[in-house]
Amino acid sequence: QASSELAGLKVLISAGPTREPLDPVRYITNRSSGKMGYALAEAAINMGADVTLVSGPVQLAAPAQARLIQVETAAQMYAAVLAEADSHAIYIGAAAVADYSPVPAPEKLKKHAGASTLVLHKTQDILAAVAALTPPPFTVGFAAETENLTEYALGKLQDKKLAMIAANWVGKAEGGFDRDQNALQVFWPTGQKALAMTDKSLLAQQLLSLIAEHFYNTMP
Ligand code: C5P
Repeated sequence: QASSELAGLKVLISAGPTREPLDPVRYITNRSSGKMGYALAEAAINMGADVTLVSGPVQLAAPAQARLIQVETAAQMYAAVLAEADSHAIYIGAAAVADYSPVPAPEKLKKHAGASTLVLHKTQDILAAVAALTPPPFTVGFAAETENLTEYALGKLQDKKLAMIAANWVGKAEGGFDRDQNALQVFWPTGQKALAMTDKSLLAQQLLSLIAEHFYNTMP
């Protein structure tokens, strides 16, 4: 349902996986479908926001009213998000950004007898870079974990200096990557809230309501 909780606010959302080329025909990626980020974009528009969606390659249609910026690699996503972040009030990093990337070979890699070793370089942390801007937008991250959910999420909230982090289990039977439903444990510096397993569209509304409430509470 429509509400006006985000009326007049510019919200930047990153979504989907990134794709890191190995050579002109191969790449490394992950299981992110982009569903959570796209659901957030849709819900934010319904709540009155002006939405910019920076998206990795996904099989989803972007909401018609979103300004869509399509990217492929983590480096391209970094450049696109950092070019937009300071003109937005809120940044939600819902993309599954590759943590490591190969230096792509200019020509198709050939096979040899025996094993092969891949050298990977660390990508830049987009979320931490946005949260380090002065002043930062209200910066919200995601933490997809297979173990120690609370500990890892709180660590990321502190280390990346986020306003809020939404943690979810992945690699379980329900929820997480490439599913229609999810559950979130949301943390901010002084509190937390559990959002129970439900469709990502409803979950997106609930998370954005929480973000709106805290955004207005922390405004100087
Ligand atoms: O540290 P970790 O990758 O688990 O943190 C997840 C959060 O950080 C997500 O919100 C993700 O979008 C963001 N992230 C990022 N840039 C990276 C890696 C992760 O923005 N290079």
